[in-house]
Order: sequence, then structure tokens, then C-alpha cells
Amino acid sequence: MTITTDRATVPTTATTKRRPWWRHPWTAVAVIVVAFILFALFPYVTFDPSRSRIPLRGDIPLYYPVLIFHIFTATVAVICACLRISPWFKRRYPSAFRVSEAIYVFAGVIPSGISALAIGAVSSFGPITRTSHILVATLWLVCTIKGYRLGRRGEVDEQQRWMWRSYVLTAAAITNRMWAIMFLLVFTPQLDSLFGGNEKVMLQTISSMAAFLSWTVPLIILQWWLDNRDAAARRQHLAGLNGS
Ligand code: HEM
Repeated sequence: MTITTDRATVPTTATTKRRPWWRHPWTAVAVIVVAFILFALFPYVTFDPSRSRIPLRGDIPLYYPVLIFHIFTATVAVICACLRISPWFKRRYPSAFRVSEAIYVFAGVIPSGISALAIGAVSSFGPITRTSHILVATLWLVCTIKGYRLGRRGEVDEQQRWMWRSYVLTAAAITNRMWAIMFLLVFTPQLDSLFGGNEKVMLQTISSMAAFLSWTVPLIILQWWLDNRDAAARRQHLAGLNGS
């Protein structure tokens, strides 16, 4: 059972008490997020451009500083998103939970989204990846700002829906890497047969596919889940009316 106004995030105390923390889905999310942050951040904490995992735009001097700014602010967004979907965090630290939304929006998504727009538009991975980066960065900013504004107006249900979209887009950074690794494993043995031995074409293809799939698939699944949840709530409401 869940509380209706905050259905997506707040299982009742009875549910959470019965389930040990290590079997809660949030624990799996937290483990993936911590592993991703350690893996993703590692080459950039030294501020040494030669350790970058991606090809840098040497012709744009500001590229590397903006990339670093993007990565660190995105890390703030990922950590806050992870805490905000945790029922435990909300119950245990209610005031920190409330503050975490402002941190997520103003120290995470907004600076990271704007810098993602800048580096995304000049991505070394070609025009299709650039298009995806620009689209998803815009959606990330729009969903987050809309969710935040709805929350300020007290429209909790709608706020939740937009914030879930925002969290799913935050997680796109993780799903992107998963798709990319999968495509690398699938396509590398076909470098000659499928790409005529051209590694650059292969990497641009993989990057474009991973970039688009990383946010379109999760957004579609989320929308399907939200619609099903609303339909179930309507059915329950009608059954209640018919029963009374
Ligand atoms: C959904 C919004 C996001 C967009 C549009 C975006 C965009 C970008 C772009 C354009 C780059 C430069 C590489 C390229 O041209 O492909 C980049 C790199 C990077 N981003 Fe993001 N990003 C987003 C979210 C995140 C999040 C949430 C994280 C989490 C920490 C993150 C971590 C990184 C890292 C670590 C790199 C360096 C590349 C690497 O080592 O894999 N990004 N991002």
C-alpha cells in the first residue's frame, strides 16, 4: 500500500518496516549510482585533460573546463535524485529531504543541463549524438523546472510526475554507458563487415544509438507506468463509488 499524494516515492511505514533494507529496490539503485559515480568521476578528479575518457575539442579552449563543470554538477544531481527517491531518507531526515530538492534543481540540474547543452552542441561523437544531447538536456531542464514550480504551487501529484521524468533523465547518463558497452561488444567483431574497417564510423554509430536509447526507452517505460498507475487508481475509485 502507498500514500496517494506521494504514491511514487512513499510506501507506508508498514511496508518498509517489513522489508529489510538490503532487499529494498532503492538499495540496488544506490549501489548502481555509487558504482557509476566512482567509475565516471575517477579520470576527472585530477583535472588532467590527458586522462579524459572522451576525445576533447582541442580547438575550443573552454571545452574541458565546461566538461568538468558539467560532470561535477551532474554528480550533485545524481546524488540528490538518488536520495529523493529513497523512502528511508524522506522518513529519517525530513528537513534534509525538503532542502535536497532545491539542491537538485539549482546546484545540479540547471548548471549541469546548461553546460551539457554547450558541450553537447560540439560533441566529438558526430551530429546525431549532438542532436540527442541537445534534446535530452533541454528536456532535463524543462521537466525539472516544471516539477519544481508545480511543487511551489502545492500541486504535489503533478510535481511528482514531472520530477520522476527528471530523475529518469538524470539516470540516462547511466543507461547511456550500459547501451554503449553492449553495442561495443556486439559491433566490435563486425568492424570490417559492417563498417568497412572504419573505427570512427563505428564509434559514432554506437554513441548515437546509445545516446538516443538512453533516454527515450526509460521515458516511454515511465509514461506507461504512470498511465497504468492512474488507471488503477481510477478503477479503485469507481469500485469504491459503486460499493458505497
Ligand atoms: C541528461 C543530461 C545529460 C546530458 C545531455 C549530458 C551531456 C554530456 C555531454 C555532451 C558530454 C561530453 C561527451 C559527449 O560529447 O558525448 C558529457 C560527458 C560526461 N557526462 Fe554528461 N550529460 C548528462 C547527464 C550526466 C549525468 C547525470 C552525469 C553523472 C555524473 C554525467 C556525467 C558525465 C561524464 C562523467 C562525462 C565525461 C565522459 C565520460 O567519461 O564518459 N552526465 N555529458
